[in-house]
Amino acid sequence: MKSPAGVDEAVAALAAGDVVGLPTETVYGLAADAANREAVAKIYRIKQRPADHPLIVHVLGDAQARSWGAWNPAAQRLTHTFWPGPLTIVLPRRPQAPAWACAGHATIALRSPSHPVAREVMARVLALGITGIAAPSANRFGRVSPTSAAHVRTDLGNDVAVVLEGGDADIGVESTIVDLSRGRAVLLRPGHIGADAIAAALGEPVAAPDVDAPRVSGSLASHYAPATPLQLVHRSQLDGALGHALAAGRRVALWSPEPPRPQGPDVRWHVQPGTADAMEHVLYRTLRELDAESADLILIQSPPTDPAWAAVNDRLKRAASPR
Ligand code: TXA
Ligand code: MG
Repeated sequence: MKSPAGVDEAVAALAAGDVVGLPTETVYGLAADAANREAVAKIYRIKQRPADHPLIVHVLGDAQARSWGAWNPAAQRLTHTFWPGPLTIVLPRRPQAPAWACAGHATIALRSPSHPVAREVMARVLALGITGIAAPSANRFGRVSPTSAAHVRTDLGNDVAVVLEGGDADIGVESTIVDLSRGRAVLLRPGHIGADAIAAALGEPVAAPDVDAPRVSGSLASHYAPATPLQLVHRSQLDGALGHALAAGRRVALWSPEPPRPQGPDVRWHVQPGTADAMEHVLYRTLRELDAESADLILIQSPPTDPAWAAVNDRLKRAASPR
């Protein structure tokens, strides 16, 4: 079978200890051989990511994951239900798993992505003895995650030789992260797979993160942020906030389900979808488009707050958080 365009180059680059832009079903990743210290160091350099923020190691399946993390029954249940897919589990790191794959932490984050191009690359490098691919989202630290190959080229193009084309990311927000290293399941990052689905698969509740939770980049108050100041506004206050900004002479990029009132040349309106899945799918792309309007302010109508919208609300809250 013929491989998708660029896969040969990507496999060669990974084997040579270089980084590659890799499509996944959640967001695009900046990928490198997790067992290669120099290759992993390149990820940190390119992303400008703090050295103590650990990466996710991507694997073809649980057979590979077991050599990186100490398996337990909860890991068995969750991976059986959700892998391959948008779920990352955190497990105690096995002694033979190198510390640089997880920034020296005693635990390791593992995910088996479902995207066919990612799987093809992982299968090809596995044949060369590479069992794990370290890959954070392929954006500079703190900025909006990429959901297309074009986003990766815009953000990191000069630093990454190979960016594989994999289409628009199906899901559009990063994987759900569940910590299984502490005896009970803790949700570290909400994602497309909700806490209720995790709890159902585990047969026990999932806790919210506490102060002891390990550091997760995405859990910093300000993250996933466009350059333009961003304000989340409840529907009932939207017309008022818009009128106020326009009266002050500001140009506004607006993301709301309903057309703006008032309208005018200083309002650039983008339509907000009505379902959580659709909103996840377009979230990062739309944040980039709103940012590109060269407005003085991005106004976003806050979405519903029920559990299906947890990932969207989490990312929007961090995007709106002052830097
Ligand atoms: O969907 C995703 O997960 C994407 C795609 C590329 O797979 N990757 C992604 O990677 O979002 P990144 O690096 O942007 O976010 C990974 C998160 C970070 O917030 C990191 O702190 C957390 O996972 N993490 C990694 N190892 C961890 C560990 N041992 N304990 C707790 N959190 C960990
Ligand atoms: Mg990220």
